[in-house]
Amino acid sequence: MNILVTGGAGFIGSHTLIELYKAGHTAVVVDNLSNSNPVALQRVAEIIGVPEIPFYKVDIRDREGLEHVFAEHKLNACIHFAGLKAVGESVEKPWEYYENNIGGTLVLVDVMRKHGCKNIIFSSSATIYGDPVEIPITENCPKGQCTNPYGWTKSMLEQVLMDIQKADPEWNVVLLRYFNPVGAHPSGRIGENPNGIPNNLMPYITQVAVGKRKELGVFGNDYNTPDGTGVRDYIHVVDLANAHVAALKCFTNALTHSHNNTFIYNIGTGNGYSVLDMVKAFIRVNGVDVPYSIKPRRAGDIATCYCDPSKAKAELGWQAKYGIDDMVRDSWNWQKNNPDGYPE
Ligand code: NAD
Ligand code: UFG
Repeated sequence: MNILVTGGAGFIGSHTLIELYKAGHTAVVVDNLSNSNPVALQRVAEIIGVPEIPFYKVDIRDREGLEHVFAEHKLNACIHFAGLKAVGESVEKPWEYYENNIGGTLVLVDVMRKHGCKNIIFSSSATIYGDPVEIPITENCPKGQCTNPYGWTKSMLEQVLMDIQKADPEWNVVLLRYFNPVGAHPSGRIGENPNGIPNNLMPYITQVAVGKRKELGVFGNDYNTPDGTGVRDYIHVVDLANAHVAALKCFTNALTHSHNNTFIYNIGTGNGYSVLDMVKAFIRVNGVDVPYSIKPRRAGDIATCYCDPSKAKAELGWQAKYGIDDMVRDSWNWQKNNPDGYPE
């Protein structure tokens, strides 16, 4: 398939491009580079062994820009990563988050349908479960109250896409609910490149390990978990990338028409690791120190979040292959080889 990849210069998008090409697909990338660097795409091309990945510096809110891309390429499907994703920033700037993530997706979907491209994979998130009513979380777990506007954009966009599919059965909508993506391509050439102080655990750990930050703050050790620190379902980004390749199956006759053509999958490993499990694994596997101290709980955090990924295995034939040691090794390999991220 020839696939439109929005947000393809970002962390998960860049890794997905590699797995798409490895599986025999091709891609056209649209990204406004608001949170990414075009060097990532050059490195993706090097890894794949192609001269370049077709790329348009276009904002998904820019209808004319998207029309131009569709006029130049025959596209069979879209993997839609583009969006703002900083939880804390979304609390400060809710309008910007709703306008970019929801406004942008509405324009994208409208242009897609005008061009007869009605297959979309959307980057959703475990955050839509709120404080989950069951652990491990299955796809039948009811959606919950999000604690921030970012989370609500994901929850609302799931609804928007399901309603669009219901009204026009030609659409195939895949909602992938990611758990906690970490790691990097084993080459160490591409990885997560956060702006400013990292919000997420793994980039914070790697920045402490490389000497950019003094110590990790562990947000709370009084949760009802085995060691008192928060438990999450960390998933290697290459596994996550491959889940998208597997989900393309939803656009072929293999799966369509047996469902209502909205497909929802949890994408995680099914294993829950605590903050201290991650820190200890990082130190053990990489032989570098990660000083940390216990801090108060972070507002909005929940104790435990991990999934039951068996639906994706049964229907897509996908399951995670990488374990915690691979995740901490590859995260460090990226950080130590690129201490300042991509060159500007
Ligand atoms: P990222 O910020 O690295 O990638 C997103 C990309 O989208 C960036 O390259 C950015 O420049 C681009 N973008 C943002 N707004 C745009 C717009 N209006 N037009 C065009 N491009 C735009 O983030 P990521 O970690 O790769 O996440 C990809 C997707 O997965 C996002 O939708 C994110 O919300 C979702 N997700 C991420 C996580 C996570 O922990 N990383 C977890 C769950 C879901
Ligand atoms: N943590 C720390 N110190 C830090 C950062 C995080 O102790 O400096 C802890 C958190 O308290 C939590 C765990 O590490 O217990 C994971 O925190 P992250 O910020 O890495 O991830 P979250 O589970 O909070 O959220 C992530 C993404 C969201 C997404 C969610 C579910 O940031 O966008 O996973 O997919 F919605």
